[in-house]
Amino acid sequence: MTLSLVKRMPQQAARTDSPDSAPAPAVPLLEVRNIEVVYHDVMYAVKGVSLKVEPGQVVTLFGPNGAGKTSLVRAISRLLQSVDGEIRSGAVLFDGQPLDGLATHQVARRGLYQIPEGGNVIKELSVRENLLLSQFCRDSSAGLADDIERVMQRFPILKTREQQLGGYLSGGEQQMLSMAKALLARPCLMVLDEPTLGLSPMLVQQNFGVLRELNRDFGIAILVIEQNARVALDIASYGYVMESGRVVYDGPAEQLRGNREIQEFYLGMEGDARKSFRDVKHYKRRKRWLS
Ligand SMILES: Nc1ncnc2c1ncn2[C@@H]1O[C@H](COP(=O)(O)OP(=O)(O)OP(=O)(O)O)[C@@H](O)[C@H]1O
Ligand SMILES: [Mg+2]
Repeated sequence: MTLSLVKRMPQQAARTDSPDSAPAPAVPLLEVRNIEVVYHDVMYAVKGVSLKVEPGQVVTLFGPNGAGKTSLVRAISRLLQSVDGEIRSGAVLFDGQPLDGLATHQVARRGLYQIPEGGNVIKELSVRENLLLSQFCRDSSAGLADDIERVMQRFPILKTREQQLGGYLSGGEQQMLSMAKALLARPCLMVLDEPTLGLSPMLVQQNFGVLRELNRDFGIAILVIEQNARVALDIASYGYVMESGRVVYDGPAEQLRGNREIQEFYLGMEGDARKSFRDVKHYKRRKRWLS
């Protein structure tokens, strides 16, 4: 597939197109600064989280149920309003720009595409109709038909099911369709909320294989929320662990893989009951004082 599916972001273009000017300071592709998320005005689900994704980087975020992972990605992609939630404080910057006031499809047009928990397939529409919907996430629909052909070469199963309803696809095929829709939006960053939920171990591997290819072939940065920390740390270069609304640990993937508590609680390498980090006396939470 050609590289025409990948958007060049304005600021990145400016940075690379001006070789004579002084190098601009490096701007993370995504920067979440000390964000708090509240539901129904009272319920704090995210209590001051900061994270970064650099251009082309794969980052994973994991943690137990109810830790606030989905709330965090809803804040990033502006999906909180529909569930009576809001960002109470902090900021989300994409390519150095705040996303305040943008609707989710406008965020996607900027190059940040989220695949929510359960995927983004509209079950009542055919596979092709689902793909066509990505036009709302592009600056223009020019070239969309050609790009649909390209993504169908990438995901041949979708070609054979082109006229079939999305709801009739298997779980794994729906994830492929979700990723194809994402690719058609020409993202610089894909945010995926538990893309392997309910998939068999073989499909989990297949799904992560596709993510690895999208990152390698198109340079798309990826932020993946995942319960299966072992698989996620295989493709990520950096990871965050979230518990009870806070990041309790973060570091390079290698460091997380080698950490005894993470091995015990998230990689299933020691012990049997999964406890909270908070229960471990020698665990030192790193305070984060990012502005
Ligand atoms: N729309 C909502 N209204 C009120 N509370 C909510 C809402 N959505 C989530 N919560 C609460 O916010 C907290 C964090 O939930 P969230 O879905 O972000 O966790 P999660 O880490 O994604 O969990 P899981 O691994 O189960 O998907 C939970 O206590 C949850 O009950
Ligand atoms: Mg969730």
